This record gives sequence, C-alpha cells and structure tokens, in this order.
Amino acid sequence: MIRKILMVVCILTAYLHPGCQRQMNQAGNPDSFVEANIDGLLAKMTLEEKVGQMSQVNKNGEDGPADIENEVRSGNIGSFLNIADVDLRNKLQKIAVEESRLGIPLIFGYDVIHGHRTIFPVPLGEAAGWDLDLVEKTASVAAREARAVGIDWTFSPMIDIARDPRWGRIVEGAGEDAYLGSLISSAKVRGYQGCDLSAPDTMAACLKHFAVYGASQAGREYHTTEVPLRTIRDVYLPLFKAGVEEGAATLMSGFNDLNGVPVSGNKFLLTDILRNEWGFEGFVVSDWRSVKQLIPHGIAEDETQAAILGATAGVDMEMVSRTYINNLPRLVREGRISQDVLDTAVRRILRVKFRLGLFENPYVDPDVQKSVILAPENRKLARKAVCESMVLLKNENNLLPLNASLQSIALIGPLADNQKDLLGTWSYSGRSEDVVTVLKGLQDALGDTCKINYAKGCEIDGILTEGFSEAIEAANKSDLVIMAVGEGIMHNGEAHSRTNLNLPGNQLQLLKEVEKTDKPIVLILFSGRPLTINWELENIPSILLAWHPGVEGGNGIADVLSGRYNPAGKLTVTFPRNVGQIPIYYNMKNTGRPFKGDDGDTSRYIDSPNTPLLPFGYGLSYTTFAYHNLLIENQKVKIPGAVKITVDITNTGDAAGHEVAQLYIRDIAGSVTRPVKELKGFKRIYLKSGETKTVTFNLQTSELKFYDINMEYNVEPGDFKVWVGPNSVEGLEGTFELL
Ligand code: GLC
Repeated sequence: MIRKILMVVCILTAYLHPGCQRQMNQAGNPDSFVEANIDGLLAKMTLEEKVGQMSQVNKNGEDGPADIENEVRSGNIGSFLNIADVDLRNKLQKIAVEESRLGIPLIFGYDVIHGHRTIFPVPLGEAAGWDLDLVEKTASVAAREARAVGIDWTFSPMIDIARDPRWGRIVEGAGEDAYLGSLISSAKVRGYQGCDLSAPDTMAACLKHFAVYGASQAGREYHTTEVPLRTIRDVYLPLFKAGVEEGAATLMSGFNDLNGVPVSGNKFLLTDILRNEWGFEGFVVSDWRSVKQLIPHGIAEDETQAAILGATAGVDMEMVSRTYINNLPRLVREGRISQDVLDTAVRRILRVKFRLGLFENPYVDPDVQKSVILAPENRKLARKAVCESMVLLKNENNLLPLNASLQSIALIGPLADNQKDLLGTWSYSGRSEDVVTVLKGLQDALGDTCKINYAKGCEIDGILTEGFSEAIEAANKSDLVIMAVGEGIMHNGEAHSRTNLNLPGNQLQLLKEVEKTDKPIVLILFSGRPLTINWELENIPSILLAWHPGVEGGNGIADVLSGRYNPAGKLTVTFPRNVGQIPIYYNMKNTGRPFKGDDGDTSRYIDSPNTPLLPFGYGLSYTTFAYHNLLIENQKVKIPGAVKITVDITNTGDAAGHEVAQLYIRDIAGSVTRPVKELKGFKRIYLKSGETKTVTFNLQTSELKFYDINMEYNVEPGDFKVWVGPNSVEGLEGTFELL
C-alpha cells in the first residue's frame, strides 16, 4: 500500500512542480511524504544498516566482502557500480528488497559518460558543437539506454574545467570556459534526469569531480592542485553550481589535494559551500577509494581517521573502499562521531532512491532494452553529433568538400579502418563492432563513383615503417589523399597524461613521407585533447578535427567530407604551439607589462610567440561569414540593468551553414585584476548563401559579477569592452560603461 501511495505522490509532485521535479534542491519544498518515509526508515535502522546505505561495492566486489549476496541480505551494501546487466541487477535487487530486514532497494551506478551502447563523440568533441539542445538529447538517449539495462545513476557529467592539455581527462569535460561549461552542465542534467527521476527512461546525474581536479599540477594525473579561492569560485565552481541549480541528484568528490585539504575530506567544499551556500539536497559519493586515499594524502593516519574525515566533511557514500562499514558503527558507539552524521548521509541517499522510484519500482523489465539499445533514431542522433562536433581547422583553396569528380582517393592511416579507437575513452559499455569506420563511411558515401585505395601505413604508436611503401603507393595512384591519424583510445582519459602533445608514434613521419608525393592531402585528426600540430597546420592544406567520434564516426566524417554537412564546430579548449606555453587559455590576465609585439621587457618568451596555435572558439566553415553593424544600444548602463548588443552576420560564401557567433567582454579595471576576455554569450545560427541575420545579446549586469577584493560576488561600475565574432581573437569591438 505504501508503495502505491508513494507512486501517486511522486507523480503528483512531478506534475505540480513548475517545470520539472528535477529540482532536487528546491529548498523549502522537499517531498514531505518522502521525508516522512525516510524518518520512518531511519527510526528502524541499526547503525550497521545505516552505514550499509553509505557503502558502494564494485561489481566484482574488490575491497568488498566475499559473499556479496549475503552482505546485501544483511543490509551492508546500499549501492553497486559497474553492473550493466539487467538480470544480475534484478537478482541483487530482489535480495535487497525481499530478503533484507527493511527491504531498502539498491541503487546501481555506472560511468555512462558519452552514451551507453550508442556511443556519442567524447564530451570535449560534443562541446565543440556549442549545441545545448543536442547535448541534452544525447544525454537523454544515454539515460534511456542505461536505465533499460538496470543503471539508475550515471557518474556524469564530468565538468572539471581543464586548462592543461597534458591532463588526460581534459577529454571528459567541456573545455576551459566556465560560462559554456555551466550551460553544458545544466543541459546534461536535464537530459539525464528529465522531468521525473522515477520515469523508466531517466537516471540520476552525478556532477564530478567536485572540485578543481582539472588543475592537477603539470597536467600530471592525480597531482596536487593549488588554486586561489577566487579562481576556484570564479572558474571551477560555477559549473557545479549550475548543475545543482538544475537539480542534479548527486555529486562525486574527487581525488585531488586542494590547497592542502583533499577534496574527499574537505568540509569547506562539501558542506560549507555545497550544503550551506548552495542548499544541495542530494548525496555525495566519493571517487574510487578516495576516502581511504586520505591516508596516503597524509591527512589521515589510518582508516578510522579517514572514515571520520570523509563522513564529517560530507562524503555521504564511500565508493569501493570499506572504511565506513568497517569503522563508523564502532565510532558512533565510542562517541567519536555523532549518529547525526550517519542519519544526514542516509537521509540524502534515501531521498534520491525515493525520487528515482526505486521503492515503488525496484526492478527493470529485461525486455525494454530490445527496443531501446542502439535504436535507429539513436544512431541518427549520434551521426548528427559527429557532424556537429567536427572542427575544420584549415581548408586551403577549398580542397574540401571533396570534389564529386574525384576518381580515386587514397585513405591512409591507423585510424582509417579502426573501430576500437573511434569509441574514445570511458566507453566501456560501447562495443567496437558497433562503430562505423572511416573506410566504411566513405565507401557508403562515395559508392562506386570513386575508388578508395586503403593503406594503414603504420600503427598509432610505434616506430615500424614497413607499411610506408604501401601507403605511398596508394597515394601515388590516387587523385587525393585522406590521412586518418591521431591519438588512440589509450592516449587520453584517466591516468593517461602526456608530456608530449605531438601525434603519437611515427604517424608524423608517415604524413611527411606521403606529403612528398605532392598529392592534395586532407588530414582527419582523431584526438581527445589539443595537440601541437605545428607542422601539420603549416604543410597540410585541409585539416578536420574529429576527436573520438563514437559509433557513427565514419558516417559523420563522410557527411562532412562530402559536403552533405558543412562543419561549424568551434574549439572549447586552446591549442598550444608547444608544451612550454602551458597553461595557456583565452581568458588569462593582462599582466603589468603586456606584450605588444615589441621585443622589450614585456610578458613574453624569447623562443615562442605568446599566441596559441589555435585559439578558444576557433573553427572554420565551407562558407564565410561577415560580421558587420555592431550596435550597443545603451552605452551607459545602470546596475542592475542590461546592455543590448546587436550585430549583423552575412553568409558571404556559396554554401549554407551554421555559425557560432560569440560574445566576449573585458572588465577594464576592477577591485582585482580581470581576464582579458570572458565569454558571456553565443548564438548558433544557420545562414543560407547570401543571407543576413541580426543577432541580439541582452547582457544582464548580473552576468558580469565576480569575486571582488573582499571575496564578495559583485558587479562593479566602470568601463567594459565588448566583442562579437567567430572566435576569441577576432570580432567587432565596442564599449559600454556600467554606472
Ligand atoms: C574513476 C573515476 C571516476 C569514475 C569512478 C567510477 O576512478 O575517477 O570519474 O566515475 O572511478 O568508475
């Protein structure tokens, strides 16, 4: 009976809430019925059962108990991760619900990072589309597929700002900018959670890794992060705040030591900011053993102290390591930790379980997946995502799109007929056999009108050159060469930082050999991060960045190569010329001696320009766009108020296409130094050849806030510059003044 009433309440709540029920933290408006039920359960739970809810075990039980089923039956496990098997899920759930003393359902978590079986482009690639609607849609498909196989909760979106491409996990996020990243964070949460977490095609989101993990020193994985509080608040936290305000159900605390306090034991982050400032009502799960790792970090002498630190800081659920289950019941009995700490954590966890509908519907119908997994409409969306993710880096003499009169093409490189590496990192539930290769995509697109001479040429990594001759032969007998080179799946992602950002192995050597044939070359670059492609940009006429595109890679790439889709992707990370420039990002500070092109004592290098190889926001099209007629309606703006900025954009080329018009500002002088540019808006528009559209930005003064000299979040009067353009270094310039 309780379950039925609960279901009605949840449905009503979802219906009554303005917009969506997804607002997990609608302060002052928790589902009172749910809270009453949580109170009732808490009153019955033993200490062991409470800590059981705070414990997550990996599928194969490492660190965990030998007899998993008995541990579930005893109420000592509240969650599993890495189970994407609906039968196993239902089996374990049945034990929890029907054989444990209180029948509390398990919650099943999994890394659904860029799709479940329909693998979309890696997140850094998807972000390059600047298409928030698409970001939401791909997350929604991921949720539909994942929930169908019994996954209630994804450890996504990863929203770590990254300014250092040596860091392998830059691929998992949305890039270097907080404004765009915050919008993507919210879109992902909407897509995953929809309007009703209890629906069979939504799942709980998890904002990770809270926080500042992307600032790992020297880009070295799991390294120390030392970041001033103002930068933490202005740059790294907004994406998490946006996700919390969108109603994210959970967060994940990270591995990193932040200014001396590892984030999985950091009360300032996990309680003072997340709970007391932001009012977050969901729960925080640790990262993999990150509570136990407080010991090697050197702020916990043993597992007892690690458990106390993690639990009292605000980590509600411990992933994999067992310091909670092994110590917290005893510590409460010894009076060394308050039972309130446990009750608070368990309440948060049960709240998410209730809102996921796990009490009313703990099981998943195994037949649902048959109509959901890799459904044609999912693949169609994936193909669109590939097209939108691709960034045209160079296109000399309009070599692209491919000329329909081509009789033969040499397709060369280790990523040309490759399924596994196109999936990209964090695609565990993806399968290589689902991937359309570049070779297959081209064959399907060009049919028998154009002969394709394929040669692998070399491995992704390695020094062997025995494949070079076959590649050169293929080039010599073809009208044009397409090179498919870049990083493989294991060149980025977690624990895959690099100190060298060139093409791996001897791929560049192969490219140089093929270039000697004087055939026109199109380079398709596969990567999960910015690469120092100086020689390539200098010597190859056309370069398309395809990231790691997922299951529809070959088809999407063929759509762009053939001109069926006009690329419009824009970089959301800066490409450095060399590793020595790192960290380099568009919104740096001006310094007291800004470089002005002279060779005086100014902020510069003696052996490299300051400018990046490719700037944030950069990306070309098969057509051209002209920006003209920038108008700033009110040059003097009261606070609070808004400044209206309009610009006309004309498609001055022959092909229709999308353009991402970007709005940047600069606060000329503040109570603290301010970045030389800040993205504050963008519009993705479509223009036919010759068409002109007027684009309007209504910039609110509240969007110009930052943490001032007193660490208060304020907007300050003064002069501002504004730019509207195709990237972060070009555009029409204007000014306005805040009064
Ligand atoms: C990993 C990652 C985290 C992931 C978790 C579970 O170590 O840091 O992003 O969600 O473990 O796989």
